[in-house]
Amino acid sequence: MTDPIRTERHDDVLVIISDNPPVNALGAAVRQGLERGIKEAEANSGIKAVVIRCDGRTFFAGADITEFTKPPVQPMLPEVCDLIEACSKPVIAAIHGTALGGGCEVALACHYRIAVPSAKLGLPEVKLGLIPGAAGTQRLPRLVGAEAALPLVASGDPISAKRAKVIGLLDAVVEGDLVEEAIRFARGRIGKPIPRTSELANNRDGITNPAIFDDFRQANARKLRGFEAPNAAIEAVKAAGELPYAQGVQRERELFMQLMMGTQSAAMRHYFFAERAANKIDNLPADTQPLPIRKVGIVGAGTMGGGISMNFLSAGIPVTVLEMEDSALERGTGIIRKNYESTAKKGRITAEQVEQAMSLLTPTLEYIDLADCDLVIEAVYENMGVKQDVFRELDKVVKDDAILASNTSYLDINEIAAVTSRPEQVLGLHFFSPANVMRLLEVVRGDRTRPDVLATAMALAKKIGKVAVVSGVCHGFIGNRMLAKRQEQANALIMEGAKYWEIDEVMVEFGFPMGPFQMADLAGIDIGWHRDPARVETVRDALCAAGRLGQKAGKGFYDYGDGRQGTPSEEVQEIITRFSAQSGKGSRDIAAEEIRERLLYPMVNEGALILDEGIAQRASDIDVVWINGYGWPLYTGGPMFWADTVGLAKVVEGLEQHGLPVSGYLRQKAEAGERLTR
Ligand code: 3HC
Repeated sequence: MTDPIRTERHDDVLVIISDNPPVNALGAAVRQGLERGIKEAEANSGIKAVVIRCDGRTFFAGADITEFTKPPVQPMLPEVCDLIEACSKPVIAAIHGTALGGGCEVALACHYRIAVPSAKLGLPEVKLGLIPGAAGTQRLPRLVGAEAALPLVASGDPISAKRAKVIGLLDAVVEGDLVEEAIRFARGRIGKPIPRTSELANNRDGITNPAIFDDFRQANARKLRGFEAPNAAIEAVKAAGELPYAQGVQRERELFMQLMMGTQSAAMRHYFFAERAANKIDNLPADTQPLPIRKVGIVGAGTMGGGISMNFLSAGIPVTVLEMEDSALERGTGIIRKNYESTAKKGRITAEQVEQAMSLLTPTLEYIDLADCDLVIEAVYENMGVKQDVFRELDKVVKDDAILASNTSYLDINEIAAVTSRPEQVLGLHFFSPANVMRLLEVVRGDRTRPDVLATAMALAKKIGKVAVVSGVCHGFIGNRMLAKRQEQANALIMEGAKYWEIDEVMVEFGFPMGPFQMADLAGIDIGWHRDPARVETVRDALCAAGRLGQKAGKGFYDYGDGRQGTPSEEVQEIITRFSAQSGKGSRDIAAEEIRERLLYPMVNEGALILDEGIAQRASDIDVVWINGYGWPLYTGGPMFWADTVGLAKVVEGLEQHGLPVSGYLRQKAEAGERLTR
């Protein structure tokens, strides 16, 4: 392996350069090279200053996460940082791209930091269930104060170079050539006293105003619920104000090690690689090239069609949206504008950006206006006949090489493709509602979908900021197929005596933002209802007949006052009790543990079937679907990783105990003592 670190002499300045693609992660060879570089600078009296910079697309993007599960190799990052800081000659970090995690910590150990305007700096360790482990939690608050450090360390979102300069994390933002500027900057510091971050006095703002820590907790309570790392991050930043540096570092180490040994960090690191793996398609010919998508057509300007359109408009891709009637078209485009305007009101985009996005939108009532689109996504009523009609029409009018996609949530893509003359250019693009917000996109591969068509969908997904997962054709694909198993049990449990709010509570306690009945209220109970109030065969029919259509009606399973927080309804419980009595299943108290197992274990079993049938390419793809599409708690790693954590033997035992089916695949994995995920 070639050495990732080289040095260059520029008269009295030594430039230490890392070239460790793709992101200059601080693996063992990089750490060793940095140590060698600093030692070279110390040993040579002709060298008066040092610049550390990176080749390629970014400054160090952090520790090498793949090393976390391997035996440690010296020198460790904290030692390298200390060595840099102790250097008797000024050391300047010259930053481009992203200085993240350990990379930001290296920069903090340098005596000065300069960056190009496009650079970003951050400590995203909490997103891996960790906190910074190379004294970042101690150096950063000393440099910028606890209040500015807190969001960086505890929420992990990077900040711009401009903001970093404002808070004092950067000494300069430079417009010209970074290397030349860094060398010039370094020369200007020769012979001056060297500022060392660890030697700065404890920043007192966290001591004089201790409320900042609780305020931060409160302001982010919903986002942080269930996560261990942010609390540890807050504690570490607090310690930086209270303890001498060496003790603060020790506290950081203790917290870091606790997290590193815990399941949350293992789960979140699993997810980090899962998300990146999901975008890769197995067995595609190596020379597969995605096709250019310059213009997108959307059929249907309803909730889904409108939301889907916004993804492309926001990414600067023109959209033609088709409706059957003027009023629907006007309503749909009006909602798109309103959504953009309300985002602008919150300050997230400018008024100009609203106009820019809207200028890319062409509403139409004519199929023929979709003729020049490279991709057309159908987002009409979920009915095979209706969808096939749309595809027949599209096939006639759009250009020969255009891709046709259906936003179906359940239906067979092959049957839809079969009515066109181009089944190899047809696939499913299953967006999740609200489609402009939810990150998940299930890309459904039909039997005949061509590799480059699939690759186009994956590349496009990345462009519009989605996490795409490939699914084979089956009823409900990966996500909804597993959801159905949970719903089946939720419905069975209320017939056996569990209260519906207890079921929701168990799911919220597990980490979901809401339970199945709260979700039904949000989505609308009347989705798919036969609309005949006289025909009451199920609990749902009874609720719909009683006008309890969900949140939009102010009542569904729950009663809603002004807010979105519902209270359980006696009327609904009476309806359930009536149906339960009719079912003759009897009524008993059901413990939370049984509820949890009966809701979640069948999902694991279904996931195993989905894997066995090759519907999902890999177990981790299922985790990506559930975390991004259904609010499965990230800190458990998703249903497949969670099942591995629980132990597959225990899952099988639980399924058997509850009289639920166990797939051959799951049983075999459990008996072999294997895992679903790697
Ligand atoms: N270690 C190992 N591999 C990494 C890595 C890391 N820190 N960061 C990225 N990679 C890998 C990815 O897995 C991916 O590999 P693949 O091509 O085989 O799938 C490849 O690098 C490219 O990554 P992305 O696809 O994510 O590239 P993007 O350009 O979209 O994003 C990035 C670049 C913003 C740097 C993003 O990769 C990222 O956020 N990386 C993680 C940053 C991070 O979490 N750093 C903290 C690490 S923990 C730490 O430093 C502990 C310390 O405090 C002791």
